[in-house]
Amino acid sequence: MSNTLQKNLNYKKFIIDERLQYFKPHASKIEKTFAEEISFSLNRKGKFISPKFFYDKKGSDLFEKICTLPEYYPTRTEIMILNKLKDELPSFLDKTFRVVELGSGASVKTRIILDIFSKLCGDVEYFPIDISEILAESSEELLKDYENLHITGIIDTYEGGLEFLKNYDEKKNLILFLGSSFGNFPPKDGHEFLQKINSTMKKGDLFLIGLDLVKDKNILESAYDDSQGITSEFNLNVLSRINDELDADFNLNNFSHHSLYNETDQRIEMYLKSLVDQSVVISKSNLLLNLEKDELIHTEYSHKFRLSQIQKLLDDVGFEIKHTWLDDKSHFSLTLVSKI
Ligand code: AVI
Repeated sequence: MSNTLQKNLNYKKFIIDERLQYFKPHASKIEKTFAEEISFSLNRKGKFISPKFFYDKKGSDLFEKICTLPEYYPTRTEIMILNKLKDELPSFLDKTFRVVELGSGASVKTRIILDIFSKLCGDVEYFPIDISEILAESSEELLKDYENLHITGIIDTYEGGLEFLKNYDEKKNLILFLGSSFGNFPPKDGHEFLQKINSTMKKGDLFLIGLDLVKDKNILESAYDDSQGITSEFNLNVLSRINDELDADFNLNNFSHHSLYNETDQRIEMYLKSLVDQSVVISKSNLLLNLEKDELIHTEYSHKFRLSQIQKLLDDVGFEIKHTWLDDKSHFSLTLVSKI
């Protein structure tokens, strides 16, 4: 048995065809259930729901919609930068790299990177890591359009996927973490996550991270409270998900989307506000949830960064910055780093 297989015995392998395979952890590896996490996070003084629960099928579709909204500048700005970087990224790469992406994309962004690799390498190896089975759908979309693409999907948490990658082989990786998803971590968890990425990387590997920058408060606040109400729908959808999956009776009319930019902590904060005094049963979490009128359930942070903070953040973890690309308005950044 090869080393790779021995070390990744926690995963089951699914070979779909010669260009597509998946690895999925055995059920025993799955840590806390949705019901347990909700039971903990709503049964305390500062109630919260982790933003990772936004992304069921409906939530993922709503997020795709958010990405196209006129107010939501991050996606189109990052795409602009990626297009600019098309000519410059190859000078940091060679034919021996594969693309690893935290979060699976069949989106414009992944395609820009795959285009760069197709030109550079001919055959392209792509490892998306995503907790959601949507990974399967997006992989099939990509395979239709890229004849020389080989995909190994890892259906697991980012941390699990990185651990898997660490044990995989000696091939060089370009790890992508786009969209400022890093901004959704609380700072301490974010630091630990960067350390995890750093310790996964071998000498010669590269990491490209997309981070949203501090800017005018009005631009930020309207990006997270759009005029069509899609962000509101996205936020409220997590309650529908709890209703469906945990046998709960949230009445969505009794909640509203609430978001603000906290200038001190440089972050958008998203909440669900209870519009009345109410009680909600969440059967599978064994919880009777009592909420007062105006009480807030925290659902998301979206941190914004200054360039000096990005440099420090990456330095502190032991990365060497190779290059930072910005858009013309300095609204968003992409930074390429290697391991020291
Ligand atoms: C996924 N993540 C980077 C988005 C953000 O901007 O923080 C999630 C989002 N929440 C509301 N709108 C978009």
